[in-house]
Amino acid sequence: MRTVITGGAGFIGSHLSDYLLAAGDEVTVFDDLSTGTLENLTEAFKNPNFNFVEGTVLDKQALTDVIAGADRVFHLAAAVGVQLIVEQPLVSLRTNIHGTENVLDAVKAAGAKLLLASTSEVYGKNSADALSEDSDRILGDALKSRWTYAAAKGIDEAFAHAYWNEYGVPVSIVRLFNTVGPRQTGRYGMVVPNLIGQALNNQPLTVFGDGEQTRCFSYVADVVPALVALVENSRSYGQAYNLGGAQEISIRALGEQIIERTGSRSSIELVPYEQAYAPGYEDMRRRVPDNTKANQLIGFIPQTNVEKIIDFVAEDLRSRGALDGRLMGRPGAMAGAAAGA
Ligand SMILES: NC(=O)c1ccc[n+]([C@@H]2O[C@H](COP(=O)([O-])OP(=O)(O)OC[C@H]3O[C@@H](n4cnc5c(N)ncnc54)[C@H](O)[C@@H]3O)[C@@H](O)[C@H]2O)c1
Repeated sequence: MRTVITGGAGFIGSHLSDYLLAAGDEVTVFDDLSTGTLENLTEAFKNPNFNFVEGTVLDKQALTDVIAGADRVFHLAAAVGVQLIVEQPLVSLRTNIHGTENVLDAVKAAGAKLLLASTSEVYGKNSADALSEDSDRILGDALKSRWTYAAAKGIDEAFAHAYWNEYGVPVSIVRLFNTVGPRQTGRYGMVVPNLIGQALNNQPLTVFGDGEQTRCFSYVADVVPALVALVENSRSYGQAYNLGGAQEISIRALGEQIIERTGSRSSIELVPYEQAYAPGYEDMRRRVPDNTKANQLIGFIPQTNVEKIIDFVAEDLRSRGALDGRLMGRPGAMAGAAAGA
């Protein structure tokens, strides 16, 4: 099986690459290394079935050349998370909208199958008990950059759906809910590596707001096989699937567990949103997935609990010597409980 992973040098994409290489695939990663790193692909480079091409999904010709001859494509390349979009709105919008359209065209030309990575952010402020795939999207002001990540991913989904309906391009859409694990960096406000990094450095854990906002973190090794199972199941084409964690936890409780499990001397410091973000920033109080649809189609059940996730991420940060600020949040940036997706 010849597989192309856009964004494969990133956090989720590099785990997917390792997983598919272990299964015997020929894997080509296409990535511009804007947030991903070659270090994430250290193991992959040892495999003769692995190939890396540096390039951007905005370069349609390069993308088309790489995807030609592929059996399946996982489109993970994106400007990821709310912080990056707020800081670099134009390049992020172009990557997340035009880049995806380019991928869809290249996949259509190659006659391949596609897995499109979308996000729970598309549900916006909807804080229902459990969000199912047909839940309403509640987005804020279209002029607030904070909402453009959700808006762009929503457009991606609409594109994918139309390519399936009008051209028969086999495309499955996943809405990932706060996926975490080794190799995720804290540079763009991702809460788990940031808080664990702060705990390991015995620094205050900066939790935004009152810390009572909740999330359901899912572990990358639980999610990766589900991405593959979905794209290989023809009943998933033209459909969207939630993939999220099973355990709802407040960010304050997460911080407390992190302090306990890492044996840290840190304490929790609540930082008002106005201080962490531009005035008027809006965060979701809850984001809880209903995974029933993915469970019914491919038997998806998240296995890894928060305690294990903390241990695995702490071990990864220690072993990579990643506690020097290089992979962590920048001082004064949103290095806290943004719970970015
Ligand atoms: N991690 C999460 O919790 C989460 C949640 C929801 C959705 N997602 C989605 O999953 C996908 C992967 O996210 P991740 O967490 O691994 O983030 P990541 O930043 O580690 O990976 C994104 C990768 O895309 C690459 N990239 C960015 N712009 C590119 C471009 N123009 N051309 C080529 N490559 C480009 C980056 O260098 C990086 O390697 C993204 O589409 C993201 O929106 C992630």
